[in-house]
Amino acid sequence: MVGIRAASSWFAFLPLVLVVAAGGGVSFLGEKKVLVLRPRFQLEVTKTSEKCLPQRSRRVAGATILEVKQQGRKDATWKVLAGDNARVRSLQSRLGNTVANRAEAAPSEARLPLNSGAKVQTQNYIVTIELAGKQMTVIVDTGSDLTWVQCVPCKSCYSQEDPLFDPAASPSYQPIPCNTSTCDSLRAATGISGVCGSDRPSCNYELSYGDGSYTNGVLARDSISLASVSVEGFVFGCGRSNGGMFGGTSGLMGLGRAQLSLISQTTPRFGGVFSYCLPTQEFDSSGSLILGSAYDTFKNLTPVVFTNMLPDSSSYFLNLTGMSIGGVALQDQFSTKVLIDSGTVITRLAPSVYKLVKDEFLRQFSGFPPAPDFSILDTCFDLAGYKEVSIPNIRFAFQGDAEVEVDVSGVLYLVKQDASQACLAFASLAYEDEVGIIGNYQQKNLRVVYDTVGSRLGFAEENCGYS
Ligand SMILES: *[C@@H]1O[C@H](CO)[C@@H](O)[C@H](O)[C@H]1NC(C)=O
Ligand SMILES: *[C@@H]1O[C@H](CO)[C@@H](O)[C@H](O)[C@H]1NC(C)=O
Repeated sequence: MVGIRAASSWFAFLPLVLVVAAGGGVSFLGEKKVLVLRPRFQLEVTKTSEKCLPQRSRRVAGATILEVKQQGRKDATWKVLAGDNARVRSLQSRLGNTVANRAEAAPSEARLPLNSGAKVQTQNYIVTIELAGKQMTVIVDTGSDLTWVQCVPCKSCYSQEDPLFDPAASPSYQPIPCNTSTCDSLRAATGISGVCGSDRPSCNYELSYGDGSYTNGVLARDSISLASVSVEGFVFGCGRSNGGMFGGTSGLMGLGRAQLSLISQTTPRFGGVFSYCLPTQEFDSSGSLILGSAYDTFKNLTPVVFTNMLPDSSSYFLNLTGMSIGGVALQDQFSTKVLIDSGTVITRLAPSVYKLVKDEFLRQFSGFPPAPDFSILDTCFDLAGYKEVSIPNIRFAFQGDAEVEVDVSGVLYLVKQDASQACLAFASLAYEDEVGIIGNYQQKNLRVVYDTVGSRLGFAEENCGYS
């Protein structure tokens, strides 16, 4: 949990956060917005309870709303981006791009200050659910399917905040037998078929996230509760051997498109629709994960515009048809398949597209002293001397005239707290044929609606807030 120190030491270790001052702090200068750069809060993160204070939830008028928070805000920046690169490489290989080996030698990788054995971190968003009546804080991931928590007896578990889930204490817990169609559905969800346990006919799963994170255990059913809506017989992984980038959470909520994902399993209840609004890093900011299509509970500032998901049922792919920088459309409009992912931080674009974005951004955001590249980010500025800067708006256009503007907090990535190294928060893929990814840094303060039944994805601007 994040606490604030007494006022006397307020300015001791000020992280400079990107603050969009409320109530008129954002001025519209044509196609630019002002980003206020000023020290704001001292975040004091204590080791023991930094991440997982239970997130709130509520039900209103047919909507099931879970509070979303960001986890691990004090992670070293390079670790976040190192973890991000590992995730992107593993996504690419999963998406059938056999470039994992080439990517190993890519220049962007070589520049990473990755200590071997260093624990990489991601910038994750978390929610709290109940499993058999026990609170579990889990990472929200649209890039994978299986929901799992750490379970006793544990062969090897990382340390988590909440007590471990104990199947023996839940009368409604049922292991799933192997040689069942539910066990077979693991293949689509994890890429690896379930296997029979050696001593009993339970269905054992293995799931590896390719960045070194993994969970292995037993597939089981129990009741879960999402903002007090209970779902009986929910299929999840009871993880007996888990490790990697999960911080102090109890596990992960898989919101992908496979049959085992939470969203597929709850389709009778929520209609296969969910949406989220990811908060900025400002202290105590929170967002929401809304299950169901209760559009009237969104606080969107602009209408929700929809684009079709590409007909590939494995993930959330969209057809990116153009971009504009400061109102200037990139000269070569393009049509490219991109993945939208809640777990990747920085948006990745094909090298040719990235070059257009970078060149146009540099043309418009000129006159600022340059700063060294940082990891995968190669367009950096020294903004230490500025209280505020006006930055060109960046817009994505998707098939079907769905345009969405990146929030002003999602354009620059502050590597240094004093803004002396502020980088354009977009990166190039290593190869032209890799799949682009819309990362979570560019999804902040947007309502992103996943309609898995209608096979469409919607965007609207929103100031994220739980309450
Ligand atoms: C699962 O099915 C295979 C092949 O039909 C069989 O050999 C095996 O004994 C079964 N396992 C269990 C635990 O039922
Ligand atoms: C993407 O959109 C463009 C423009 O509407 C269209 O020409 C192209 O066929 C679409 N690509 C896919 C894969 O649907």
